[in-house]
Amino acid sequence: MTDGCISINGRRRLTGETTVQGCKNAALPCLTACLLCDRGCSCLGGCPALSDVENTIEILERLGAECVFDRAGELVTVRAENVFGSSVDSGMMNKMRSSILFMGALLSRTGEADIGYPGGCEIGARPIDMHLKAFRRLGVQIEEEGGMIRCRVRSRLKPGPVSLLCPSVGATENIMMLMAKSEGETVIRNAAREPEIVDLQNLLNAMGANISGAGSDVIVINGTDSLRGAEYKIMPDRIAALTYMAAAAACGGRILLRNVNLDHISVCCSVLRDMGAVVEKDGDGAVLTMSGRPNAVNAIKTLYYPGFPTDAQPAFMAAMTVAKGTTVFIESIFENRFRHAPELVKLGADIDVNICQAVVRGKESLSGAEVRSSDLRGGAAMVIGGLIADGNTRVRGVSHIERGYRNITEDFESLGADIRMIY
Ligand code: UD1
Repeated sequence: MTDGCISINGRRRLTGETTVQGCKNAALPCLTACLLCDRGCSCLGGCPALSDVENTIEILERLGAECVFDRAGELVTVRAENVFGSSVDSGMMNKMRSSILFMGALLSRTGEADIGYPGGCEIGARPIDMHLKAFRRLGVQIEEEGGMIRCRVRSRLKPGPVSLLCPSVGATENIMMLMAKSEGETVIRNAAREPEIVDLQNLLNAMGANISGAGSDVIVINGTDSLRGAEYKIMPDRIAALTYMAAAAACGGRILLRNVNLDHISVCCSVLRDMGAVVEKDGDGAVLTMSGRPNAVNAIKTLYYPGFPTDAQPAFMAAMTVAKGTTVFIESIFENRFRHAPELVKLGADIDVNICQAVVRGKESLSGAEVRSSDLRGGAAMVIGGLIADGNTRVRGVSHIERGYRNITEDFESLGADIRMIY
């Protein structure tokens, strides 16, 4: 992590190519799932060197797993045969939201888990009530005391139907971890449908699990008694790809992104086309071409997959600050996800926020200023704001950005931006 800042001289067209990193939100659950293997070694390719990935590996190591991270090759090897721990301290839990997945993985592996509450970006209350309710239903005894959660499987887990109140990504993944090795059939109804859940299912099945339905709202887990290490390549990061695409739609130019799955971002591509961009498939990647200012889009409402992803909302809001017309953003997943808006206003943007709605009136230009990342995706929006703005912009709070982007300055440099990290 750095305490530096990102310096950007903006108002350049973006032209160039780069390779999109492996997906953070798939790598974290997949790494955690390696804990379930009682034999063999797991090799996960496409794991980007991000602070969240490093922290997940550190938790695995503290629990007794042997991990090797080839950062240049983006390959993590995990041998979890000698896992001895069953607790994750509050300090480690606090570093990221996905640490909650260690609850399911540890319970499956050792029958117990003592963990703190998960941290992550401050974009809303982010409760874990659905995780706890489902785990209790599946036979886990849970006591919450003094900021710690103490979980035990007393006799055995109780596979059966579980219905989620809303399609939570984390709760769906946590139940898959918990039940993959519990004999009997568990059915998750109203499951989250995100591609990252399909990635987790594919990895678990490669390890010997019997799970089907991921990608739909009903997931069926037929528990198997043991899992072995497997080789797996993590899917491309759809939010990183959208960050670069939104930037190019705002700045104009022509970018080639390698390692993009357009099927995962079809709704956003339709928005990009409404903005005036041409988006085309190119082998395993995509080309985006844009000339002139983007068109505004009446309303962009964030929804569960396959709807418009909440994680892409800040980047698109930054792009719409220079659109021809007014765009209304409606945030329906997290209640505190407009903290980047006042920072964009420092660059001259015209944005009014009213609880879960933000009205963005597009202007001809922005002007450089010093801004701060509010959270991971808000930080990416600041970088896009700097790329759009006239003059120099300095983005502080870089450690937020480093949680999710392997090297955002080098990537944008490859796309023709005048951008650098200053330490
Ligand atoms: C994951 C992603 C995050 C993304 C989010 C929504 C990871 C590591 N993070 O987060 O980048 O923004 O999906 O696509 O994959 N909720 C409850 N109770 C619960 C669990 C969730 O009320 O027990 C609510 C949340 O507050 C939120 C909604 O459900 O309003 C969706 O949250 P969820 O899908 O669980 O998000 P995460 O898994 O935390």
